Amino acid sequence: MSSFFVVSKQYEELARDEIISISKSYDGTSKVTVLPRLVMVSSKVPWRTIAKRATFARHAGIIAGTFDDVSKLEGITMSRPETFVCRTINLSSKSVGSSLERQAGAILAKRWNSKVSLSNPQVTVYLIITDSKNYLGYADSQVMPLHPKKLVKHPHEIDIKLARCMVNLSGLKEGKTLCDPFCGTGTILLEAESMGISSIGIDFDKIMCKITKKNLAANGFGSTVINSGFEEIKNVMGEIDGIVTDLPYGISSRASVSPKKLLEDFISVIPKRKKLVMVYKKGLEVDQISKAKKYEIYRHKSLTRVIAVT
Ligand SMILES: C[S@@+](CC[C@H](N)C(=O)[O-])C[C@H]1O[C@@H](n2cnc3c(N)ncnc32)[C@H](O)[C@@H]1O
Repeated sequence: MSSFFVVSKQYEELARDEIISISKSYDGTSKVTVLPRLVMVSSKVPWRTIAKRATFARHAGIIAGTFDDVSKLEGITMSRPETFVCRTINLSSKSVGSSLERQAGAILAKRWNSKVSLSNPQVTVYLIITDSKNYLGYADSQVMPLHPKKLVKHPHEIDIKLARCMVNLSGLKEGKTLCDPFCGTGTILLEAESMGISSIGIDFDKIMCKITKKNLAANGFGSTVINSGFEEIKNVMGEIDGIVTDLPYGISSRASVSPKKLLEDFISVIPKRKKLVMVYKKGLEVDQISKAKKYEIYRHKSLTRVIAVT
């Protein structure tokens, strides 16, 4: 069965790779088809499993078939709902009028002997228009990621959506363990735990460790938090399956080294075979990660961040 995911325009490449990474972590044989803003996954993974995790998926569901002519809608494989609504998602370069939804609604209502319900449909039928093909998809509910509570915040914290996306890019799933050796307020640990991934946080700032513990406790998560320098990761390497982290992007008052030297020192303690997803300020690139897959996140004129996946 094929699932579809319509992704946000803002971080399209990141969004696409996030979905691919989640799918492959559950089923290594997943086949993925990518079109502009549309990812289709043919695998054993239920679409909800992916949609619950994927930060940047806007709409998701099952592909029921393709169509050329909306007045025919032949070869569409989906069972009859009591009530439904049709929604057009135009991902093509042409403009598509609202009459398409009405036409498809009338045809399907007649075929199924079902009622159109705009306010409380049992099923949403998606007419996904692309420049190459038109797809008919459906979903019986909207599934969105549920972010954990963040009791204590901090100006330097990472955006929850990016944190979740980075955890997803690590390819870890339930039952695995990650470490964030620069955990700050614990955003990455929270997102990981909320997806059933255990986590270990390290931060050399005692106050940050206290904040992280409060944030974890507020959600009932029992991650280990260690008040130490990032080098402590060497002592937990045997317990972890991957590293997801957000490096300092300025010189902290407590650190004597530059952010670039810190990045170099950090990478030098990570074994090559360990999965590493990290975000740092653009311009700090070091040789050791020249081959990493990189995504740029523009924040403002003087801050672009880079997510690197090795
Ligand atoms: C950019 S912040 C992380 C923010 C975090 N992702 C959040 O959402 O709150 C970087 C963190 O690294 C910590 N840090 C800086 N140098 C460190 C070192 N050498 N070892 C461990 N932690 C360090 C800082 O105390 C800070 O909390």
